[in-house]
Amino acid sequence: MSLSTMEKEKIDKQDKSATGEAVIKVKKIIPPQLVRGMRDILPTEWSWWNFLWAQVQEYALSYSFERIETPILEKTNLFTRAIGSTTDIVEKEMYSFVDQSEDHLSLRPEYTAGIARAYIEHGMLSLPQPVKLYSFGQLFRHERPQAGRFRQFWQLNFEIFGEAQATADTQLILLAAALFENLKLPVTIQINSVGCQACRPAYKQALQDYYKTKRSVLCEDCKRRLQRNPLRILDCKQEECHELAKNAPQMVDFLCEICKNHFTRLLEYLDEVELAYQLNPYLVRGLDYYTRTVFEVWGGDEGKTVLAGGGRYDNLVSELGGQPTPSVGFGGGVERIINELKVRQIAVPTAPAPDLFLACLGEASRKRAFKLFEDLRRQGIRVAESFTKEGLKSQLEIANRLGVKFALVLGQKELMDGTIIVRDMENGIQEIVDLKKVVEEVKKRLVARQSNILTVS
Ligand code: HAM
Repeated sequence: MSLSTMEKEKIDKQDKSATGEAVIKVKKIIPPQLVRGMRDILPTEWSWWNFLWAQVQEYALSYSFERIETPILEKTNLFTRAIGSTTDIVEKEMYSFVDQSEDHLSLRPEYTAGIARAYIEHGMLSLPQPVKLYSFGQLFRHERPQAGRFRQFWQLNFEIFGEAQATADTQLILLAAALFENLKLPVTIQINSVGCQACRPAYKQALQDYYKTKRSVLCEDCKRRLQRNPLRILDCKQEECHELAKNAPQMVDFLCEICKNHFTRLLEYLDEVELAYQLNPYLVRGLDYYTRTVFEVWGGDEGKTVLAGGGRYDNLVSELGGQPTPSVGFGGGVERIINELKVRQIAVPTAPAPDLFLACLGEASRKRAFKLFEDLRRQGIRVAESFTKEGLKSQLEIANRLGVKFALVLGQKELMDGTIIVRDMENGIQEIVDLKKVVEEVKKRLVARQSNILTVS
């Protein structure tokens, strides 16, 4: 038996069997696999990502938001302090570790805490307020993976720091609604108020009193929540808890004057612009920093997929050690939004076909083709090539498949004559042009065909 080097490398041990025959044990090489809950974004998917990213930039510009990106790694206690130690995210979902410097770090499970840290650390309070920031990046939560729920996922995120008025809440809700409308995704905007430190304790007490007598009916998670975080019982998806929530006390009946005025003002503003919304007394959100307004954008087939969520967090910056800075923001789940675009077959722009295909025949012309490629590229002409293919037929097949308008063919004869063939891919007509003038010649023809020649520096 003859073995290739690779096969030889696979041999773990060579034994003799009882009959004296050589027994070859091949070590099985298991290819590396994706970590559970993570996903690759393959080249075929990027047109959706690019489209959404372009939309986010456009809306950020229209509503005067500036981009900020904070590190993916932050100190763990930033998140425990900001998000709340009894939330699912902090209790169960953070990717946390101690690094070589003994620092306790976590992959960010959300944007807001890191951005609030940056706001304080860079003294953004001294800037004209409000400070409006947006981000588009990746977050990590060790959740149970399922459709639309990943352990590494992307969010588009908008925050307004330093504005206490309901105008900021209104603008964010309008921005979210306009973005989804422009994406042609049918959604409903769900709104509630979760009150503030002054009025929420009485509401929490009322909830505890209500649920205490029904404790045995609650799911195991909610039994625990009853003591520590009774508001979260309201949005529990378990049937038994959901039923009980229907008769539970509602926050609106407990709002203090300031919270009530804020909420009324927000709803008046939204009514004024005739934005449809649903008041949802069960909407409480999964992060502890919220005060007053909370909202979510629901979509999907059954209208229950949470595509975006956010709210006001007036105490977060001061609780992290900054000056009191009333703030509000929201985050949208990029994978979930893209999935909706795909399901609804919303067309997104794809990368335009290259303008030109450069075919070369033989080694000498290949060498010359590199320079020609660079000359064309510098003129903003998008050139496809297949330097590794030999035959003209196979190269022209590729040119056809790419949908280019022209192909340039540089063979041995042309190279010796100092010429090149320009082939019109639509009608197959070929012309011989001077190699020195080909860039200008091609440009002329492309302009005549109204190609979008890029400006390349
Ligand atoms: P959130 O509700 O935890 O809020 O996340 C916002 C959105 O991110 C969700 O509505 C959902 O679309 C998406 N999302 C969340 N978890 C996952 C996951 N495991 N896989 C895929 N998508 C997911 C926040 O993160 C807040 N920081 C939003 C905010 C900004 N509040 C104020 N400012």
